[in-house]
Amino acid sequence: MPNKIIVTGGAGYIGTHTTVALQTAGFDVVVFDNLGNSSGRAIDGVVRITGVRPEFINVDCSDMDALARAFDAHRDAIGVIHFAALKAVGESVEKPLVYYRNNLNGLINVLDNMVRCKIPNIVFSSSSTVYGEPDTLPVTEDTPLKPAKCPYGQTKVMGEQIIRDTVLANPDLNAILLRYFNPIGAHPSAEIGENPNGIPSNLLPFVCQTAAGIREVLNVFGDDYDTPDGFCIRDYIDINDLASAHVAALKHMLDGARGIDVFNLGTGRGVSVMELIKTFESATGVSVPRKIAPRRAGDVPAIWADASRANRVLGWRANVPLSETLASAWRWQQKCMAEQNS
Ligand code: UD1
Repeated sequence: MPNKIIVTGGAGYIGTHTTVALQTAGFDVVVFDNLGNSSGRAIDGVVRITGVRPEFINVDCSDMDALARAFDAHRDAIGVIHFAALKAVGESVEKPLVYYRNNLNGLINVLDNMVRCKIPNIVFSSSSTVYGEPDTLPVTEDTPLKPAKCPYGQTKVMGEQIIRDTVLANPDLNAILLRYFNPIGAHPSAEIGENPNGIPSNLLPFVCQTAAGIREVLNVFGDDYDTPDGFCIRDYIDINDLASAHVAALKHMLDGARGIDVFNLGTGRGVSVMELIKTFESATGVSVPRKIAPRRAGDVPAIWADASRANRVLGWRANVPLSETLASAWRWQQKCMAEQNS
C-alpha cells in the first residue's frame, strides 16, 4: 500500500515529533529541510525513538528548482505535511520581506509541485495567531479571523487563503489547516525536543533555561490583565498530542474526506502564565526565579481553543496532563545541558 508522506521542516521541533508519530503509525516519511533553524542531529533523535531513519533531502522550499527535483524523486507520495517556515515573531517585524518571501514562496512552491506531481493531500501548520485578539472565548474554527499583529502571523493568514484558493481551483487537491495553540514539551524519551537559538522568546523554553540557571530570572510580562489572576492566559498543548493530530488529519483525507477543512488544536483549557510556572515547579521540584515585568507589546490577554471539532471529526483529543508535559520539557533541558558539558 502506498504510504509515503513528505514532511517539510521535518527536522524542526514540531516536524521531528510528527515524523515519530507518522512512523509509529506505519507511514514512510521523507523529510525536506534546509536545516536553517534545525540540525541533522534532531533526525538522529527520531531514529533512536523509532528505529527507522527517514530519508532526508536538504532542500529549501523557497528554491523552486531544487524543490522540484526533490518532488520529482518522490512523485509516489500520498501526502505532504508542510511545516517549513520561519517563526520568530520579533524577527518578522524587523525583516518582513524575508518572512513573506520565505513562508509564502515556500508554500506556493510546495503547492505547485503537489499539483504537478498529483500528490493529493496537504496538512498545513497554521496558528491561533489568525484569531488575533478574539471577541469571544473559547475560539471555534468559525470565530472571525483578525489581521495578525506581525508579518509572521500574516503569513499564516495568507497561507490559509492561498491553500483555499488552490483547493478551489484543483478539485483533486485536499487540505487540512491545523491552527495550533501553544505547543510545548518534548518526547517522553527526551531524545527530541525544542531547541531554540539564542535567547528564547517563548515562555516554556525560557522557564526551563531559568530553572537550569542559564538565565538569571524569568520576566513575567504583565500582572494587570483583565483575567482571574491578572496574568495572560494561553492554551498549552503537548507536542506529542499535537503530532498525533497530524496523523489523524492525514488519515481523515486518506479515508476519503475531500476539499478543505480546518481544526483548532488545543486542550480547551486556558492556563495563566503564573499557573504554568507553578505547575512546572511542582512537577519538577525546581524553582523558577521570576519577576513581574511590563506587558509585552502584541500579546493578547487571553486565548484558548474550543477543540471539540477535531474531537468530533478526527476522533482526536489532547491527552497528556500539563504536569507531564512540563516534566518532559525539563528532562529535555537537562539532557541538552548534559550533552553540552560532555
Ligand atoms: C507566540 C507568538 C505566536 C506564535 C507562537 C509560537 C507572539 C505575540 N505570539 O505566542 O504568534 O505562533 O509564539 O510558539 O509572540 N511570557 C512571559 N515571559 C516570557 C515569555 C512569555 O511572561 O519570557 C508570556 C507571554 O506574555 C504570554 C505567554 O507567556 O502571555 C506565552 O508566550 P509565548 O510562549 O511567547 O507564546 P505566545 O505569545 O502565545
